Amino acid sequence: MKALVLAGGIGSRLFPITHTGAKQLIPVANKPVLFYVIETLVDAGVTDIGIVVGGTQAQVREAVGDGSAMGARVTYIYQEEPLGLAHAVLIARDFLGDEDFVMYLGDNFIVGGIDALLRKFHAEGPAAEILLTRVDNPTDFGVAELDAGGQVVRLEEKPKNPASHLAVIGVYLFTPAVHEAIDAIKPSPRGELEIVEAIQWLVNNGYPVGSATVDGYWKDTGTVTDMLEVNRSVLETLEPCTDGKVDEESEIIGRVRIERGAVVSQSRIVGPAVIGAGTVVRSSYIGPSTSIAEDCVIDTSQIEFSIVLNGAAIEGVGPIEGSLIGREAHLTRSCLTPRASHRFLIGDHCKVQVAP
Ligand code: TTP
Repeated sequence: MKALVLAGGIGSRLFPITHTGAKQLIPVANKPVLFYVIETLVDAGVTDIGIVVGGTQAQVREAVGDGSAMGARVTYIYQEEPLGLAHAVLIARDFLGDEDFVMYLGDNFIVGGIDALLRKFHAEGPAAEILLTRVDNPTDFGVAELDAGGQVVRLEEKPKNPASHLAVIGVYLFTPAVHEAIDAIKPSPRGELEIVEAIQWLVNNGYPVGSATVDGYWKDTGTVTDMLEVNRSVLETLEPCTDGKVDEESEIIGRVRIERGAVVSQSRIVGPAVIGAGTVVRSSYIGPSTSIAEDCVIDTSQIEFSIVLNGAAIEGVGPIEGSLIGREAHLTRSCLTPRASHRFLIGDHCKVQVAP
């Protein structure tokens, strides 16, 4: 069995971070989402992994390399344009050959692994198997209608009148029958080859399509809100440790990981939180559900429920809450502007909310 991990796409819901970086490499508890994906596959015994990459391929290649550090053997497949999930399968045809494979969206986060799903797939032998989760807002998802035996009868993308509360999540199991389906479908009105349509083609042509419901935690990290929520949830399971330096005037409360070379002085950190390697925290408050990446400076500031990417500096600013701060971003207090006014140099598609 092989795996196809999708790490291309545009990531428009995470602009401007994704103007310059791959969304799949945004860290959760200081580890890229894509690494959790690869680890989940390797844990399930799937080590022959094709990664579909797009415009951010250089970063993905640099971060993942040949995969050997994670016990995987990685082949990169370049997708010139993000023409849909089924298009990614189409261009991976040579890599996939005639083997069964698991397709895993590189921005999806699942806790609890996929071993049980793989076992069920091998035992039951359907042409394809999809993973579902119960959601309150099915109109925002691809939704599955099942028969009494759990076989898929119909799939509908963002339905106005959903047939169920079962949303399709980003892990799919396929036999080579899916290639016939993809050859048969046409691009959708949004110009993409849709995997949902390929699966529906299998159903319509008499192929058995099974389903499994995930009870554990699942999230698509496509938006800032989801990213922060996944980060919060992963930090709750953090093993506390202090590999950096913490002075006597600082207070560390709860699950806090202070990575190698980090220096914390005159500060209060309330976990769960992680302070990345080489980061300096001075005279600041770091609150729960916060991940600060490597080589940042947090000085005389307050921040909680946020993700700060590597090399960022926050000096004299706060309280900050619910924020995703990009690489090398600088947030500072200005003495040159009138009191209570704000001064910005904001890139394209940024979102800034200031307190009233
Ligand atoms: P999406 O989240 O559907 O698309 P996107 O990443 O372009 O994001 P947005 O909607 O915010 O613009 O993609 C799911 C995953 O699949 C993600 O990891 C990107 C990847 N992908 C590809 O690799 N190729 C593609 O053609 C598409 C559409 C997505």
